[in-house]
Amino acid sequence: MPTQIPPPMLSAQLERFAVDLQLVVRERNQARAAVRKARLGTLLRLAAAAELKDDDTGVHILRMGHYAALIAAAYGMPPDYCENILYASRMHDIGKIGIPDAILKKPGPLTDEEWVVMKTHPEIGAALLDDSDVPLFQMASQIALTHHEKFDGSGYPSGLRGSEIPLSGRIVAVADYFDALTMDRCYRPALPMEKAFNMLRANACVHFDPSVVQAFFEAKHKILDIRTRINRGEEVSAT
Ligand SMILES: [Fe+2]
Ligand SMILES: [Fe+2]
Repeated sequence: MPTQIPPPMLSAQLERFAVDLQLVVRERNQARAAVRKARLGTLLRLAAAAELKDDDTGVHILRMGHYAALIAAAYGMPPDYCENILYASRMHDIGKIGIPDAILKKPGPLTDEEWVVMKTHPEIGAALLDDSDVPLFQMASQIALTHHEKFDGSGYPSGLRGSEIPLSGRIVAVADYFDALTMDRCYRPALPMEKAFNMLRANACVHFDPSVVQAFFEAKHKILDIRTRINRGEEVSAT
């Protein structure tokens, strides 16, 4: 017959077991969070390195990350989605790390062959990011892959149309385009704000999801405010 453990000893043993289990779970969660934070830090640095190949200041990805989070909030997405897109969107062009400088920095228009190479950056980026079950990295991979898709199906790499394009990709397309228009480039100065707004409106339904463009205009004042603050060199940590 098995030895009987007296009830008071049994409950003390169970209590100790429960405390040990809680400690193990807490340590596992802390270790997972530390790995996630380290991975995010590495990928954001890689994204910044990719951006420096294209933009001398590297501030574009900071600004458009905040614009994407503000557009997502105006669209009605919950806070954890908005926080994820704030960071995930900064990695949209991480795949440019695999594009030769001779193409990325070419002062004139690209040849057809060079465009073929340039258009591989979404898939390179998605492959770099696509090995995680963490929602932030899943979203980053989705954005890297789809930020050049267009609402009418004329984008790349897959020619997705409408809601076939994930919402994160549709939001980042608007945030990226607006910031690209309103920043100084080596080949042209920043466009006046009203002209950029008109171009966004004109491209709704063609390049962009009209409901995302509408969310952009709902968040317009916050977007302009954060743009001013970042351009002044202020530290803007969260939206
Ligand atoms: Fe891109
Ligand atoms: Fe960009």
